[in-house]
Amino acid sequence: MTTWPTGVPGLAWGADYNPEQWPEAVWADDVELMRRAGVNLVSVGIFSWALLEVEDGRHEFGWLDRVLDLLHDAGIRVDLATATAAPPPWLTSAHPEVLPETADGVRLSPGSRQSYCPSSPVYRTRAVALARALAERYRDHPALSAWHVGNEYGCHVSRCYCDRCAVAFRDWLKARHGALDELNEAWGTAFWSQHYTSWDQVLPPRATPSLGNPGHLLDFDRFSSDALLELYKAERDVLREVTPGVPVTTNFMVTWGFQALDYWKWAAEVDFVANDHYTRAEDPERHVDLAFSADLVRGLAGGRPWLLMEHSTSAVNWQPRNIAKQPGELRRNSYAHLARGADGTLFFQWRQSRAGAERYHSAMVPHAGPDTKVFREVEQVGAEYGRIAELVGSTVRASVAIVHDWQSGWALGQPAHPTADFSYHRHVLAHYRALWRAGVTVDFVPPGADLSGYRLVVLPALYLVDDASPYERHVEAGGHLLVTYLSGITDSRGHVHLGGYPGAFRDLLGVRTEEFHPLREGEEVSLDDGSSATVWTEHLHATGAEVVASYVDGPLPGVPAITRNGRGDGVAWYVACGLTGDGLDRLTRTALAGAGVTGTGHVDVEVVRRGGEVDGSAVSWLVAVNHGDGDVELPATGVELLSGERVPGGVVVPAGGVVVVREEEEV
Ligand code: GAL
Repeated sequence: MTTWPTGVPGLAWGADYNPEQWPEAVWADDVELMRRAGVNLVSVGIFSWALLEVEDGRHEFGWLDRVLDLLHDAGIRVDLATATAAPPPWLTSAHPEVLPETADGVRLSPGSRQSYCPSSPVYRTRAVALARALAERYRDHPALSAWHVGNEYGCHVSRCYCDRCAVAFRDWLKARHGALDELNEAWGTAFWSQHYTSWDQVLPPRATPSLGNPGHLLDFDRFSSDALLELYKAERDVLREVTPGVPVTTNFMVTWGFQALDYWKWAAEVDFVANDHYTRAEDPERHVDLAFSADLVRGLAGGRPWLLMEHSTSAVNWQPRNIAKQPGELRRNSYAHLARGADGTLFFQWRQSRAGAERYHSAMVPHAGPDTKVFREVEQVGAEYGRIAELVGSTVRASVAIVHDWQSGWALGQPAHPTADFSYHRHVLAHYRALWRAGVTVDFVPPGADLSGYRLVVLPALYLVDDASPYERHVEAGGHLLVTYLSGITDSRGHVHLGGYPGAFRDLLGVRTEEFHPLREGEEVSLDDGSSATVWTEHLHATGAEVVASYVDGPLPGVPAITRNGRGDGVAWYVACGLTGDGLDRLTRTALAGAGVTGTGHVDVEVVRRGGEVDGSAVSWLVAVNHGDGDVELPATGVELLSGERVPGGVVVPAGGVVVVREEEEV
C-alpha cells in the first residue's frame, strides 16, 4: 500500500487549487507563481462536481485535463479530489431527498456546500459514480499523486435526522446491540417510559420536549460518525480498485470546536493522515492550540508522518473578526506543524477568490497579487523547505502521553451533567497547556492503547471506561498516571459504575468519592498547597492513597482534592478538582519530575526533536519555533539547516523566528 502522495520531492508545499474559478488565461500565471513559490503539491477539484458533471452522467473533463497537464508540465503533483463535497444543483433539485434534515425537522436548502444526507442512497450512488469516472479517466495521468475524498466530512452536517437516517440508524443499532431487549437495557429505557417493543419505534434523537436519553444520544453520535465513514469508504474502495498504487485520504478537522467524528476509527481507513487546522486569531495562545492539534494528528497517524492539508496564510473569513496574521506567523505556523511530525504543509487556498463565500479568506496569492508580505513569506518558506528536505520520514519521540477519547467528549457534552461549566475539549487542552508550559513533548493515544514506553500518562476526563486494566498494568509496571475528575464514571453505554466515583479507577487510585460538588459560576476554592480550583470539587475519601492537598474553604473544607497512590512499581495521581493555571502547572511539574521527565523549561519557544536517518545513519533534528518577543539561545551542536551555519554548542532562535538543527549529539 502506498502511504504518501507519490512523487513529491521533499516536504510537501502547496494549497487547494481551484482554477475553475478563473479564466484559463490566469492558469499559466498560476503555474509560474507556483514555481516561484516552490509549490510541489496541490489539491484540485474539491468543489468541482457541478462543473465536472454538468448533468446526470454527462461529464466535462476537458478543463481538468488541461489543468492537470499544465501542472504536470511544471512538475507539480496533484492530490486529486473526488469532487463530492458539494452536490450540484441539478442533483438536489431532481432529488431533494438528498438534502439533510436537522433535529427540528428542517430540511436544509442547497446553495452552500455539504448539503447531503449521509444515508441518502442517491447521493452515495452518484458520489461513488463520480469517483469511479474520475479514477478511470485519470488513472494513468502522470500528475496524479493522491486521492482526496470528499472534504472535511461532517464539517457542516455531521448529524442528519431524516427518515432515511432513521432506517440506517436502526440497522446500525441492530448490528451493535443484536436484540431489541439489549438496546432497551443499554439505553436504560425503563426510565421515563421509553421501553421499545418494535424497532420501528426507534428514531434519531430529534427535538424532544425535554432531556433525551443519554444512551440514545451517544449511540446516535457513534452512528453518525460511522455513517459518514461508510460514505468515505465507499468512494475509497472504488479508487483502490481502479488505481491501486495511489494513496487515498480525506482531510480531518482536528481542531478546537469540531468534535463530531471519532477520528481514531477514521484514521484506520486512510492511507495517510491529513488534517486541516486554523488558528483562532483572538487567542493569544493560538500556537499552543496548533501544537495540540498537530500532536493529536500525529497520534492518529500512529506516529508516522502526516500532511497538513489546509491552514491559512493570513486571515480567514469565518471568525467574528478576521485578523490578519503577523509577519512571520505563517512561517512559524508551518514549522510548528513540521516540528510535530508533518511532512508537508498546504494552505487553503492557492489564489484568493474574487467571488463566492470565501472571497475575504487569505490565500498564497492574495487579491493584491504577489507583491505582498504574504506572497514573499510564501516564497521564503517554500525555498527553505528545499533546505530541510532531509526531515522527510523522520518521526517525533515523546515520553508523555495523553489519552484522548472523542466518545467521552460526546458523552460529557450531553445535557444534564452535574455542571454546565465543563467542556471536554477545554479540559484536555488545559492539561496539554500545562505540559506545554513545562516544555514537554506529548503524544496522544486512544483509550486502551499500549502505554509501555511512556513514563507519564495523563487521563483527562476519560469518562467512558469499561476496563481500567490497561492503566493498572501501566502503573504496576512502574509507569506514572495522572487521572482527573470525570474519569471512569460510566461504562461505554453511559451507565454509572456503582459504589462511589470514579468507579472504574477507584481501586487503582485508592480513593472513593461519595458525591460531586460542582462549584457555582465563577466560584473559586483554595487548597492547602496554595493552589485554587474552579468548576469542580467532589467529596473524596482517600482509601489507600496519600493526600497531597485538601480544600481549605468552599463546600468541602478539609476534604482531599489531590491524591497520590503508589501501586506496584508506579504511581497513580488523582486530581479531583478543576485546578486553575498555577496549581495545575505545579502539579504537572511534580508529576513529571516524579516520572523522571525533564522539560525544556521554555514557555515561548517550542522545541521538538524529530529522529530519523540520513545516508543510513541515525540523526536527530531539533526544530525550535520562538513565539516570544526576545531572542533565546538553546543548547545545540550541529548544523542549522536554514542558514547552513555550524552551531558549536548553542543556537539562537530569534524572536518570532525558527531554527532547524541537524544535531551531532543531543544536548
Ligand atoms: C476549510 C475548508 C476549505 C475552506 C477553509 C476556509 O474548512 O475545507 O474548503 O472553506 O475551511 O478556512
